[in-house]
Amino acid sequence: MPNNPAVAGFYHEETGSIAYVVADPATRHAAIIDPVLDYDEKAGRISTQSADALLKYVQDNKLSVDWIFDTHPHADHFTAAAYLKDKLGAPAAIGRNIGAVQTLWKAIYNLPDFPADGSQWDRLFAGGDAFNVGSLPGRVMFSPGHTLASITYVVGDAAFIHDTLFQPDTGSARCDFPGGNAGILYDSIAAILALPDQTRLFTGHDYRHDGRAARW
Ligand SMILES: [Fe+2]
Repeated sequence: MPNNPAVAGFYHEETGSIAYVVADPATRHAAIIDPVLDYDEKAGRISTQSADALLKYVQDNKLSVDWIFDTHPHADHFTAAAYLKDKLGAPAAIGRNIGAVQTLWKAIYNLPDFPADGSQWDRLFAGGDAFNVGSLPGRVMFSPGHTLASITYVVGDAAFIHDTLFQPDTGSARCDFPGGNAGILYDSIAAILALPDQTRLFTGHDYRHDGRAARW
């Protein structure tokens, strides 16, 4: 169908996260969503095997990456946005309220010199903002509740709904972190469920309930 992107998911076993490459088949332009930067807790070391798998997919499929998107700052993993930006030259984006989240954690971790203004990304999106992936129109929905800054990216018939709803056997995302709010998350989920019925919803995590295979 026109306006329907090709979507590839990449499951990160350690955190149950799913990164996506969303591509316009007509132009072979693409965006990367929620890339994980690997972190070995015991060694205190970062590595890039998950991000490199995204790069390999992009290269194998001869895609040109327009954007690197984060849906929100993640409590369970680092973002590989800076690494991929360096490799691909594409701008990195996140929700405009990122500064509010950074301000919370800056106080919790006592990081007086940390710039809590979202300046680590190139573009800060508000709800209703538009973007393109090749010839495909995209738009941003503000969908807080899990964090103060969470946004949903809608590209054609695909919506990247991050930590709002998960698979039916798992339920919804947590809203008990700093800045979380159950009522606001409920409203964000309601707005996602009000998207057209044919919309494909791509979740940000899967925790493999009862040991089943990962789904997204
Ligand atoms: Fe999250």
